[in-house]
Amino acid sequence: MATRRARIVGVGHHVPERVVTNDDLTQWMDTSDAWIRQRSGIRARRWVEEDSPTATSDLGLVAAQRALADAGLDASAVDMIVFATLSPDRAFPGSACYLQAKLGRPGIPALDIRQQCAGFVYGLSIADLYVRAGEADCVLLVGAEVHSKCMDISTRGREMSVLFGHGAGAVVVRATEVEDAGSRAREAFSVASVWDADGRYAEELVWPAPGTAQRVWNPPELTGTAEVFPRMNGRTVFTHAVQRMPEVTREILARHGVTVDDVDLFVLHQANRRINERVADDLGVDHARVVSTIEDYANTTAATIPIGLSVAKSDGRLRPGMLVCSAAFGSGFTWGAALYRW
Ligand code: ACO
Repeated sequence: MATRRARIVGVGHHVPERVVTNDDLTQWMDTSDAWIRQRSGIRARRWVEEDSPTATSDLGLVAAQRALADAGLDASAVDMIVFATLSPDRAFPGSACYLQAKLGRPGIPALDIRQQCAGFVYGLSIADLYVRAGEADCVLLVGAEVHSKCMDISTRGREMSVLFGHGAGAVVVRATEVEDAGSRAREAFSVASVWDADGRYAEELVWPAPGTAQRVWNPPELTGTAEVFPRMNGRTVFTHAVQRMPEVTREILARHGVTVDDVDLFVLHQANRRINERVADDLGVDHARVVSTIEDYANTTAATIPIGLSVAKSDGRLRPGMLVCSAAFGSGFTWGAALYRW
């Protein structure tokens, strides 16, 4: 019997032209290429031009257009937009609404989600569930970030700001009919996911102000202080990431009756190359099977996994029929994993 499932049918990405190397960062803060490379594996990142009004939805638009072209579809085919970002165009409305207008596709649901580095796997779960429920036929899932505009680009904020870059990635998730979906391995033919969170760690990786947890939304006394920038307890984040990412990967594989060796390619979130090497080693995965873009693009938060998919498709590492696994961990704490047949 045929069962309705979701499938990724197109992918695309876009990064700004401007390359900001580790050495470039030394003009704004006390840091070094050696420190950044040794701690994170990052050599450079892309940023939008200085003082440019380029917004997150502008990067998302280009990635979305490329994903639609890759799928051989027009924007008119899309019947839902999910936009994952921690750096939205404005406090409200959501970037999905701006993207919807720029795509010229009024009249479809446009949803922003705020799960930071886990945004793409959460978004894929949402797309999959809406498609399987018959509520959507073609979901455009976009992850996009313009980070430096909200980071503390100074020595005070260096632990965090050197790790992030700008970029966007998008996938098109479409309804498909799968024969014999009762079998567990067959289920992984399309998209499967798990997602989780632990809000007790919310303050460990946080952008404290502006917000309603303050006396007023944007307290003037906080202007210029560290409170108006994202901050993290880097060691706590690291410790939890290297535990949760392998754990959730094992969970999704076990649920669908496949092993690490059945997975052709791992396209993981990339906050730090050392985290991903630890995750791969824990799982017993050869590093060659893990896509890495962090060297040139740094951590692009919700955009990281779709950028990784797009880059791997372009360079021939990601090919039709491959079984792909993604896992992510980020602020919240939130984490999740997805297993999908390309
Ligand atoms: N350049 C130079 N020195 C720096 C920098 C920098 N950019 N940043 C911090 N330092 C200094 C600190 O001030 C500290 O100095 P001190 O020892 O004199 O006090 C020292 O370097 C800290 O060094 P380490 O302890 O060796 O740093 P560590 O190995 O813990 O690495 C890092 C720090 C890279 C931040 C690591 O903890 C990490 O990767 N954590 C996880 C990051 C992450 O995953 N973030 C989540 C993604 S964000 C999201 O979800 C939105």
